[in-house]
Amino acid sequence: MISKETIEQVLMRTDIETLIGGYVSLKRAGSNLRGLCPFHSEKSPSFTVYPADNSFYCFGCGAGGDAISFIRKRENLDYPDAVEFLAQRAGITIIRDERTPVPGEKKFDRNRMFAMNVDAAKYFNKCLFSDNPDAKAALSYFTDVRGLSTATIKHFGLGFAPNSFDQFSKYMLAKGYSYDELVAGFLCGRSEKGRYFDAFRNRIMFPIIDVSGNVIAFGGRVMDDSKPKYKNSSDTPVFKKSRNLFALNFARHHCTESMILCEGYMDVIAMHAAGFENAVATLGTAITSEQARMMSRYTKKVIISYDADEAGQKAAMRAVKLLTEVGLDVSILRVPGAKDPDEYIKKFGADKFRQVISDSKSKFDYNLDNILSKYDINLAQDKIKALHESEKLISETYSSAERDIYIQRISQIFDVDKKSVKSDVERIISRANSTRRKEESQKIKQDAVGYSDRVNPDFIKAPAAAKNEEAVLGLLLIYPEHRKRVFDGGLIGENDFITELNRRIFSYIKDAYFNGDDSHLDIDAHFSPDECGRITKMKISRMNLTENGTEVLLDSIANLKRSVSKKQNEKNSSLDSLTRLLEQKRKT
Ligand code: UTP
Ligand code: MN
Repeated sequence: MISKETIEQVLMRTDIETLIGGYVSLKRAGSNLRGLCPFHSEKSPSFTVYPADNSFYCFGCGAGGDAISFIRKRENLDYPDAVEFLAQRAGITIIRDERTPVPGEKKFDRNRMFAMNVDAAKYFNKCLFSDNPDAKAALSYFTDVRGLSTATIKHFGLGFAPNSFDQFSKYMLAKGYSYDELVAGFLCGRSEKGRYFDAFRNRIMFPIIDVSGNVIAFGGRVMDDSKPKYKNSSDTPVFKKSRNLFALNFARHHCTESMILCEGYMDVIAMHAAGFENAVATLGTAITSEQARMMSRYTKKVIISYDADEAGQKAAMRAVKLLTEVGLDVSILRVPGAKDPDEYIKKFGADKFRQVISDSKSKFDYNLDNILSKYDINLAQDKIKALHESEKLISETYSSAERDIYIQRISQIFDVDKKSVKSDVERIISRANSTRRKEESQKIKQDAVGYSDRVNPDFIKAPAAAKNEEAVLGLLLIYPEHRKRVFDGGLIGENDFITELNRRIFSYIKDAYFNGDDSHLDIDAHFSPDECGRITKMKISRMNLTENGTEVLLDSIANLKRSVSKKQNEKNSSLDSLTRLLEQKRKT
């Protein structure tokens, strides 16, 4: 959260007309401005900007608000990020400490949190070089298995978290940190019974350092095949995954030309060790648009260097999209004969890797290569398929000048008339546009209705009752002790359920109970994957109701009974009025 004064200042210094004018071409209409709405597709402008009160509204889709709402929607940012975005634009610096914690969240001193992380990193590092067999095994994992030099280990501040539930926290408590702080920093966890334990155990440790040099988080890897392979800090008061990149603290000094984006910590470390110090990686997640924007502040070009497997290549395509959207020049690198860049460098050396980098290709060339290697274009059938895929690929290129260049190339490769390729591409584009428009208008309709629920289509008919149903089911699912009371006591029956799905779930639990086999409910076998997803949601949102669970359960049952009888009354009264109407008719 950012202070109210700052937000007001940011809004005051933002001229909404100029701001939105940068995204939408606006025409004056009286004292207001009008343009085509950027949030839904339309032919005549219903999007209006009101400079007098710094707001906008679209009569077509109902989008509206102030400059912050506009940026949130348009740039797909959360509230504080949208404020920061505008602040930066207006030349206002938001001091980090000004971010007050959200209500309910304890306030932690940022500097203490940083100091705590540094102490933790030092501790893990000291453990790595200590004398016991565990530590020796960890060190030899780094040096022998992963081939890192001691200099590299020191450079990245790598470490080892000992195989103990409390060795680390005992050390930190002695240093004066509290369990609250350790838990907030994701260094300790707290069990349901209230016992604290070290979050990282028997893992090799990678500290995450921000561009100001603060240790903000950790990633920890197992040294065998156990799962999860990596454990990463969740977001903490001083760390947001989606806003940081591993090794950016080093890479920022070496990236005026380009940056290399990798999937893994080890890829980055191997690259830096081999002299490619412009490599960074995301922190256990797919790249976000925030990270893309950050990168665009440091460099012009990004070389995506993901794993060679299918997952990696799919992720690369998504990364291309986000990175291009922020104006970065993007190319994709292939590591032939290795599963990832780390392995490639180890197998073939730094010089070969330099070659691979210079061979990295634009998205178009990269995909065209894929198509051409998939088909034998000397065969007529293959040639047609390959041509069609290539045309589709061209249709995804935004700039028409670029499209023309590709059309030229494709027509040469396949030896077909340029005009026919062009008309094919145009047809694909217009078809895609019309599908997109249809989807958009569908979505707007759905949004207008408020809520459309594919899994439980009855939900919308009686949302309040459906929510009560979910509460009852959630509690019955998690806490078997409620079942006796509800089922034996006959507190509620199938007829009290309005939505079909929830009635089915209720029936299932009830039958299992009376058959005496409800000690393990086999949900997956009885419900579709989507329904199972919904059932999980019902459970997890009620996990913390141990104390007043009974109260909630009884309340929800009472509410349900009330809404069912209300529905019944409505039916009766409409029946009544119908009868009355008929009677009147007969009399006249
Ligand atoms: P990989 O499984 O490709 O690991 O995941 P890697 O980095 O190549 O690791 P090595 O070479 O086997 O040591 C790529 C990245 O995905 C995240 C980590 O950030 C990892 O570096 N990841 C992976 C997780 O966060 N959790 C996992 O369980 C696995
Ligand atoms: Mn990998």
